[in-house]
Amino acid sequence: MIHRGALIRMVAIAVVAAVIASLVAVLIRWLPESASEEMDRITFVFWFATIISIGIFALVAAVIIEAVWAFRVQPDDDTDGPPIHGNTKLEIAWTIVPAILVISIGVVSAVVLSKNANAGSDPLEVKVFAQQFAWKFEYPGKVQTEELVMPLHRSVKFEMQSADVIHSLWIPQMGQKQDVVPGITTKIVITPTRTGNFTLICTELCGLGHATMRAPVRVLDQAAFKRWLDDQRAAGAGAAAGAGAAAGGQSGGGAAAAGDAALGKTTFASAGCGGCHTFKPAGTDAQVGPDLDNLVADAKKAGEPEDQYIEQSIVDPEAVIVSGYQPGVMPTTFGKTLSPAELSGLVAFLSGKEAN
Ligand code: CUA
Repeated sequence: MIHRGALIRMVAIAVVAAVIASLVAVLIRWLPESASEEMDRITFVFWFATIISIGIFALVAAVIIEAVWAFRVQPDDDTDGPPIHGNTKLEIAWTIVPAILVISIGVVSAVVLSKNANAGSDPLEVKVFAQQFAWKFEYPGKVQTEELVMPLHRSVKFEMQSADVIHSLWIPQMGQKQDVVPGITTKIVITPTRTGNFTLICTELCGLGHATMRAPVRVLDQAAFKRWLDDQRAAGAGAAAGAGAAAGGQSGGGAAAAGDAALGKTTFASAGCGGCHTFKPAGTDAQVGPDLDNLVADAKKAGEPEDQYIEQSIVDPEAVIVSGYQPGVMPTTFGKTLSPAELSGLVAFLSGKEAN
């Protein structure tokens, strides 16, 4: 049997170990302040598992330290230790208790996972398009944005698609995280619980520009969100009419290179070019791909007219690789994802036919 003194020592060690582990758990901010119902539940699971772990840690620390101290070898003691047979009661206890604890963590996690996947009866549905190295969002009514705006206290159901490789959507304060996989549509639900600005981060290594693949996130109260969405719808309708007029003017004039540099500038931003390229007129300084301020020199090196070189580099980026850079980094999908007006606009913007 355990001596009374040993028992008291072990309890004392367990208390000290538990206090130290609790301080590490509480004093360091392991998780960001929650901003969604889903994150609240995830935080609960985190603490549920942490408290169990602290209890186990304290018990193990107490037994190990006491055993090392009480049964240490005495000087000049060369005898064998006493033969010890197993202790059935102890073995049953250390099998059943951990089994119950692990199962309870599993059950709590399963309940939280299923609650976090439930979008309720009236979710806002937002489509998410990921590509190297930018995010795009589409709201009901074909409103497309580069910024993710969410209404307070309403579940947002994301349906996510990737144009190239696997990306992953994560807003740290909202907890939820889900891969975006080419070829399938993945889903995730987020229900914001406070207004403010956040950052959406790609959290799956997806290429050289992975670290720059971020999008701003704003949570607005429901009235402000409705106003914002209405404004976007109105602006979207205006832009579509403008693009139509520009295209009409272009065919009438018969000038193939008369791209709209202003449209090119917005396309530069929406297609995420600045995530990888430096281009002074756009105010970007990323260094994943070639510096676009050098396009004239690069076109000369390739022996092509500048406009033709730029268009080719967007639609078929493997055709000419600027020295010092590698093939296979720039997405080859822009020929499909950009409209003809956006493409000619980009060529105009990049060749320096100033937007005004
Ligand atoms: Cu997309 Cu990392």
